[in-house]
Amino acid sequence: MELAAADRAALRALWKKLSSNTGVYTTEALERTFAAFPATRTYFPHLDLSPGSAPLKAHGKKVADALTLAMAHLDDLPGALAALRNLHTHTLRVDPTSFQRLGHCLLVTLARHFPGDFSPAMQASLHKFLSRVAEALGSDYD
Ligand code: HEM
Repeated sequence: MELAAADRAALRALWKKLSSNTGVYTTEALERTFAAFPATRTYFPHLDLSPGSAPLKAHGKKVADALTLAMAHLDDLPGALAALRNLHTHTLRVDPTSFQRLGHCLLVTLARHFPGDFSPAMQASLHKFLSRVAEALGSDYD
C-alpha cells in the first residue's frame, strides 16, 4: 500500500487542521479503543484509563506527537518509529491487532470531527498511513 503524492498531500492538509489539538483526537481514539476493545486495556494496568483522566490525556498527547513525527517522515516510517517499535514489540509485546484497532478508532474519531473532509479518498489515505504506522511499530515479530 504505497502512499502516493495525493495521499501525502491530503494527509498533511488534514494534520495541519488538527494542529495543536491533535492530542484531543488521539485521546478520544484511545477512549474509543479501550471501550470497544476492552482487551487493549490489559497493556495499561498501571494507568487510570477512565474517560477524561489526566494519564489518559497525557498518553493521548504522546501518541499524537508520535503520529506527527510519522507525518514528517512519510518516506521513512520504519526509521522514524524504530525506537517506538522496539518498545511496543520487545518490551510491551503489544498484539499487532491492537494497532489496527487503535487505527480504526482514530478513523472514527476524525470522521466524527471532520465530516466535511472525510471523503472516501481521505479515508483511504488515512487507512494507508495508519496501516504503515502499524507495520512500522510492530506488525511482525522477529
Ligand atoms: C507507550 C505511541 C499503539 C501500548 C507509547 C508511547 C508512545 C506511543 C509515543 C510513549 C513512549 C515513551 O514514553 O517513551 C504509539 C502509537 C501507536 C501506539 C503512535 C499507534 C498508532 C499502541 C497500542 C497499544 C500501546 C495499540 C496497546 C493496546 C502502549 C503502552 C505504553 C505505550 C502500554 C506505555 C505506557 C506507559 O507506561 O506510560 N506508545 N502507541 N500502544 N504504548 Fe503505544
